Amino acid sequence: MSADRPPVAVVGGGSIGVAWALVFARAGHEVAIFDVAAGRRGAVPGELRERLDELVAHGLLADPEPVASRVRVAQTLALAVRGAAHVQECVVESEEVKRALFAELDGLAEPRAVLASSSSMMPVSRFAADLPGRGRCLVVHPGNPPYLLPVAELVPAEFTTEDTVARTRALLEGAGMVPVLVRHEVEGFVFNRLQGALLREAYRLVRDGVASAADVDRVVSHGLGRRWAVIGPFATADLNTRGGLERHAEVMGPAYLRMGAEVGEREEWTPELVGEVAASVHERLRPEDWAASVLRRDRALMRVVAADPEL
Ligand SMILES: NC(=O)c1ccc[n+]([C@@H]2O[C@H](COP(=O)([O-])OP(=O)(O)OC[C@H]3O[C@@H](n4cnc5c(N)ncnc54)[C@H](O)[C@@H]3O)[C@@H](O)[C@H]2O)c1
Repeated sequence: MSADRPPVAVVGGGSIGVAWALVFARAGHEVAIFDVAAGRRGAVPGELRERLDELVAHGLLADPEPVASRVRVAQTLALAVRGAAHVQECVVESEEVKRALFAELDGLAEPRAVLASSSSMMPVSRFAADLPGRGRCLVVHPGNPPYLLPVAELVPAEFTTEDTVARTRALLEGAGMVPVLVRHEVEGFVFNRLQGALLREAYRLVRDGVASAADVDRVVSHGLGRRWAVIGPFATADLNTRGGLERHAEVMGPAYLRMGAEVGEREEWTPELVGEVAASVHERLRPEDWAASVLRRDRALMRVVAADPEL
């Protein structure tokens, strides 16, 4: 065991549990995984192996053996968390189940172990607020699957210690993840709030007969989503408009405001808010380099298309 690759426990051996086990084992951590269902405990090694073989087939992993050998299935929760510096909870999205499990984990885990929940929507204060060890609890929300989508949302509660956040960030960065900090607890965090905004509109468009569900999916997979593979929505607005993000807000903002008003939203993009976002975008994409940035985006898109012409 190396000090910067301490043992990790994964609790819950479903889709996300197996995927987190792969992430940590790929980075060199010994991983113990536990699931309450004996059937799942039996299925984990085979599923892990299938996922590793897929990565090898796609040139994303050289040798699956060392990764597979670092993952062991534990027969009890106590055995899984023994010696682990980080516990990644991946059980069903149920407040009751997570509350009971976190109480158990707080008693069983090593005193300095971080207790991280993969919760998609629920902040940790909903189920760990009363624990003696609540300071070491937070949400670490992955995309699915985390070994292909490296972003991980760190969502501390008010009671989570700074040391917990710092140690979790370091562990995730060491495992090749891209942690982002959600500064205060909101349901759905950032990932699922963005996803939710798009899904709500997608359902409305289908309901109102504007487009078929298949065509809505096509607009994202062959359009918006392909571009989002290389830049985010703010950078997109900046690079799609001569004059950058501020000009985009000026020209397009009123139409977006009207679209919002149609569904009862009255969220104006004030000059202060646009200015704050523009300042961040322009740190990454300098206005004087706008044309070069557009070219860089297009080249990145070309690499995406060239990597998979069937996209
Ligand atoms: N699937 C996704 O796209 C996704 C993405 C990010 C986060 N998440 C979150 O990750 C968590 C797990 O989701 P999933 O999709 O892997 O679910 P899943 O249903 O595939 O797996 C959950 C597993 O937890 C086990 N389990 C239930 N109670 C347990 C307990 N007390 N102790 C140990 N194991 C227990 C179940 O037997 C099951 O195998 C949820 O909170 C979910 O919201 C899911």
